[in-house]
Amino acid sequence: MSKLLVTGGAGFIGSNFVHHVIANTDSHVTVLDSLTYAGNLASLDGLPEDRFTFVKGDITDAALLDELFPTVDAVVHYAAESHNDNSLDDPRPFLDTNIIGTFTLLEAARKHGTRFHHISTDEVYGDLELDDPAKFTENTPYNPSSPYSSTKAGSDLLVRAWVRSFGVQATISNCSNNYGPYQHVEKFIPRQITNVLRGERPKLYGAGENVRDWIHADDHSSAVLTILQKGEIGETYLIGADGEKNNKEVVELILTTLGQPADAYDHVVDRPGHDLRYAIDSSRLRRELGWEPRYVDFEAGLAATIEWYRDNEAWWAPVKDATEARYAAQGQ
Ligand code: NAD
Ligand code: DAU
Repeated sequence: MSKLLVTGGAGFIGSNFVHHVIANTDSHVTVLDSLTYAGNLASLDGLPEDRFTFVKGDITDAALLDELFPTVDAVVHYAAESHNDNSLDDPRPFLDTNIIGTFTLLEAARKHGTRFHHISTDEVYGDLELDDPAKFTENTPYNPSSPYSSTKAGSDLLVRAWVRSFGVQATISNCSNNYGPYQHVEKFIPRQITNVLRGERPKLYGAGENVRDWIHADDHSSAVLTILQKGEIGETYLIGADGEKNNKEVVELILTTLGQPADAYDHVVDRPGHDLRYAIDSSRLRRELGWEPRYVDFEAGLAATIEWYRDNEAWWAPVKDATEARYAAQGQ
C-alpha cells in the first residue's frame, strides 16, 4: 500500500496516524480534511513534503472523492464529528458527516474498487455496569446511547452492508478512549490539564464514577496500521489497552502530577444519558494479528501528555476560551 488517503487527518487521532505511517512505512499520505473547529494544520507540521499532500475538502463531496480515489491504494476514514457533548447540543452535523459522509466515501470505494478501513468507537456497544466483569467483544450487540454514538453505529452498519451487498474491500475497528498530545481541549483529559495549567479547577460530570478504558493514541495508530496490512476483509477488530479508570481517579492524577491537592476540582452538571462504563476485550486483534500496545503504564503516558500541554500552549490556547464559554453556557 504505497499511497494512502486519510480522512480527518488534521484531527487528534488522524494526525497521529499520519505521523505514524510516515515514520514506519514508505507510503505517501494524502489527507482530506475540511478543517472544522476540530481540525488543526499545525498537528501535521514537520511532515516531509515529498511524501505528504493536504487537500482541504469535505467527505460529502462526491465529485472531489471521484478525483482523489483513483490516486490512492487505500483509504483510512477518521473524519467525524467526534464529541458527545456537541452532539447533545446540535446533532445535525453528526448526521451529515458521520452518516452521509461515510456513505459518500463507501460509494466512491465501490466505484473505484478501493480498499477501505473505517475507524469507529466502542461507544456503539452502549455501556456496561460498573460491577459487571464483562467487556465489549466483536460480538456484543449494538446499543448506542447518544446522537454521536448512534451516528457512528449507523456508519459501521453502512460499511458492513457495503461489504456484503457490493463486495467493498473494507475492515472496521472500534477503539476505546484515546489520550495523548494534540487532543482538542473540549475532551476530558486535555480540558482538565489545561484548566489546571491556567489556574482553573477541573470539572467532573456528576459523581465522577464513570469508567473509560484509556489507550494512548500512538497505540491506536499502530493497531490501525496492523489491521490495514494484515486484517481480513469484512472483519471487525476491537482496539484497547486494558486501561480502565474512573473519571475521578484521572482528575486526581492530573491534579497531583501538577502539584495540586487531589480534591481541588468541582462537580458540575452531569451529561444527559451519560454512559457508565466502557471496557474493551482486544484479544482477537492480539491473537490473530499479533498486535500489542506499547503504553501499558497509564500514569507515565498521562505524565508525558501533561508535559506536552505544558510545552505547547500555543497549540491549544487560541481555542480554550471559546471552548470554556460553550461549556459554561451548559452549566458544565
Ligand atoms: P477530532 O474531532 O479530533 O477530528 C476530526 C477531524 O475530522 C477534524 O480534523 C475535522 O476537521 C475532520 N472533519 C470533520 N468533519 C469533516 C468532513 N465532513 N469532511 C472532512 N473532514 C471532516 O476526532 P478524533 O478524536 O481524532 O476522532 C477521529 C476518529 O476516531 C472519529 O471517527 C472518532 O469517531 C474515532 N474515535 C475516536 C476516539 C477518541 O477517543 N477520540 C476513540 C475511538 C474512535
Ligand atoms: O470511547 C471512545 C469515545 O471516547 C470516542 O468515540 C469519542 O470520540 C471520544 O470523544 C470519547 O468519548 P467520551 O464521551 O468518553 O469522552 P469525553 O472526553 O467527552 O469524556 C470522557 C469522560 O469524562 C466521560 O465520562 C465524560 C467525562 N467528562 C468529560 C468532560 C469534557 C467530565 O467529567 N468532565 C468534562 O469536562
